[in-house]
Amino acid sequence: MKSIEINSPYDMHLHLRDNDMLKLVAPLSSKSFSGAIVMPNLVPPVDTKEAVISYKNRILDAIEADDNFTPFMTLFFKPYTKEFLEDIKDEITAIKLYPAGITTNSEGGVESIDTVALAPTLNAMAELNIPLCVHGETNGFVMDREKEFMSVYEALAIAFPKLKIIMEHITTKDAVELLKKYDNLYATITLHHLLITLDDVAGGMLQPHLFCKPIAKTPIDRDALLEIALSGNPKVMFGSDSAPHPQEAKESCGCAAGVFTAPIALQVLAQIFDENGKLDNLEAFVSTNASKIYNLKPSSKSITLIQKEFLVPTAYENNGLKVIPMFSGQIIKWSTE
Ligand code: NCD
Ligand code: ZN
Repeated sequence: MKSIEINSPYDMHLHLRDNDMLKLVAPLSSKSFSGAIVMPNLVPPVDTKEAVISYKNRILDAIEADDNFTPFMTLFFKPYTKEFLEDIKDEITAIKLYPAGITTNSEGGVESIDTVALAPTLNAMAELNIPLCVHGETNGFVMDREKEFMSVYEALAIAFPKLKIIMEHITTKDAVELLKKYDNLYATITLHHLLITLDDVAGGMLQPHLFCKPIAKTPIDRDALLEIALSGNPKVMFGSDSAPHPQEAKESCGCAAGVFTAPIALQVLAQIFDENGKLDNLEAFVSTNASKIYNLKPSSKSITLIQKEFLVPTAYENNGLKVIPMFSGQIIKWSTE
């Protein structure tokens, strides 16, 4: 049976939520990953040192101690002072910038991404070596939001050449091309954007569990993402953007955005890389690229993925809270040991 061992698999964009949802989903990531960049879009957002520390402790409480999983904490971007950043630096791995109101719980985000107005914070981040993670969408026409944001990424990349800028969950060929143009631009790519296009979301019967921000785009875009991910290019890394919502928030009038992929992500990535004859590049995509970009110390954890069918549970459930994973009730071709 074909298998592959991956050292230190990382999920560089993950929503773990809080309370019962945190308790339900955190163990599903900590089981197979050795660490994850944890998004700060709680209500209220994680924007103080106390909030970062207590959220990290709640995450560690929600997982098994011997899972050997590091939550890499992020702070919700606001115009912070250098003193504030110096004080919080050791508690965080990155700062996440959301344009105001662009996605789930981003109302307190940035109204206008002005390189002059944001310079004090972004220069301090560059000096302190704190990467900036960005949700790169405008509030324009839904299919053009990421493309329209390219000029913002470009302005940031030029104005702050020493700042590491992570273009989160890229979904377009335009983003893949821009990424290659500037040394300080990097990107995360999700599992679902390697697989689906808008057709899978809305081309037939509406699929609420595939609805997310940014919305899945065209086959040309999907193929550009696949090409760069499969190539092992050191500027891209896996970030699931696994974003669980309760079943009733997804299957309702006014569906919440987010695809829940954490429990099946590594297995399906192995399937995709194998089907494309690129299994040898999987470790770069899910581990080594991230370690280099973020200067992470390698962990001693590894995971073996095997080419063995796995029936994905229809739902993950605890205390009446139910979340539906991608590939719910379907068979995937790879599994963990
Ligand atoms: C995320 C969420 O639910 O927190 N939703 C999503 O569709 N990806 C937020 C985000 O990353 O945009
Ligand atoms: Zn996200």
